[in-house]
Amino acid sequence: MDSIIVRGGRQLTGEVSVGGAKNSALKLMAAALLAPATSHIDGVPDIADVDTMAEVLGYLGVRVSRQGQRLSIDASRLTGCEAPYEMVAKMRASIAVLGPLVARFGRARVAMPGGCAIGSRKIDMHIRGLEHLGAKVTLGHGSLDAVAPEGGLVGAEVTLEFPSVGATENLVMAATLARGRTVIDNVAREPEIIDLVRFLRSMGAQIEGEGTSALSIVGVRELHAAKHRVVGDRIEAGTYLVAGALGLGPVTVSGFDPAHLDLVIAKLREVGCTIEVAGDSATVSFDGRPRPVDIQTLPHPGFPTDMQAQFMTLMSVAGGGSIITENVFENRFMFAGELARMGADIRIEGHHALVKGVTHLSGAPVRSTDLRGGAALVLAGLIAQGETTVRDVHHIDRGYECFADKLAALGADIERVSCT
Ligand code: EPZ
Repeated sequence: MDSIIVRGGRQLTGEVSVGGAKNSALKLMAAALLAPATSHIDGVPDIADVDTMAEVLGYLGVRVSRQGQRLSIDASRLTGCEAPYEMVAKMRASIAVLGPLVARFGRARVAMPGGCAIGSRKIDMHIRGLEHLGAKVTLGHGSLDAVAPEGGLVGAEVTLEFPSVGATENLVMAATLARGRTVIDNVAREPEIIDLVRFLRSMGAQIEGEGTSALSIVGVRELHAAKHRVVGDRIEAGTYLVAGALGLGPVTVSGFDPAHLDLVIAKLREVGCTIEVAGDSATVSFDGRPRPVDIQTLPHPGFPTDMQAQFMTLMSVAGGGSIITENVFENRFMFAGELARMGADIRIEGHHALVKGVTHLSGAPVRSTDLRGGAALVLAGLIAQGETTVRDVHHIDRGYECFADKLAALGADIERVSCT
């Protein structure tokens, strides 16, 4: 298990570029299952979750090959329709193969994703939605079996109880090959959903409404191969913007659409940061103590839950108290306990974290609890007095390519060490 050691106090300056969005790339890979052909996806980050999804696809008979940042996905011959427990347990996003498999293959068997460090991660909306499209879903022995009716799935009207990203994606993918029209209401509107819809449309799918709260899909008989470039990773970008704020900057983060981080940028400006936006980049600089700012996470275009931990690190040294409310996941404050070991003053009350800014954090050995919490602990190490060792950095590897190297290139005193 590797660790990241960071010694605080360095000013960060320079430029860092982000890769393609993890939370789009994984679904684009699953969407390639829908066509009996080879699709090409460019700008795919070299991160652990992409490798896991390639393993899941391999299990289904799909050939995935990588040339640099391009993945070629040959789904011409599917040999199976099962995503086994060990895969799904490793990465919940494996569930994204459910909709494509039922649509293309007529059936799917996917292990039920267990909970994880941030919540129970249920899939009831995925199941109910597929049942609306005519699938028969049975649960048993930890797996979910979904079987399409004779003649395939049938278009229907579906309303999601909550704009679930995963449920939206599974149902849109399933509906592309269903007979007739499907209208899904109260869908997720994240930029990654828009990216998926654009890829599906380039494969021949008939979809309208992306970015609004309702999607309309008219099923087609077959989809064909396509080529697509993954949208830039707004969460990776937001993470480096917070790093730049903590390290005073100026730090320019490029390779993403700043419009995808509107609220995060607005909140960083409220904190006192100067942020200039130009084309596919944003430059952050800061010259003081962060002002305390409350946030509450919500589905897009609200404040992204995937930026909550990073923002809490910033608020932990603010000049006053702030309230961080987590509305999307039921248990996404796990890392706060580790941040407290570095001297942060945080009280958790239900889905609120009451953060009282302290003058400084102190370096300590801490442990990554999850992907974004781990990254937030490294950010804390950038400003803590002394040395911080963040263990279990495999969590960070799931979503950040060369995280320590990119921060070192900005001037951080940071290194990755392997602890066998
Ligand atoms: C995606 O997870 C992202 N993961 C998450 O990013 C992100 O935090 C989340 O969307 C919200 O933006 C990927 O795209 C791989 P949801 P997902 O379905 O699809 C509940 C990261 O750090 N729910 O919108 O699982 C669920 O329990 C990761 O990159 C149901 O109750 O998110 C959660 O509380 C973390 N029933 C809430 O909805 C369902 O059927 C949001 O889940 C589905 C979801």
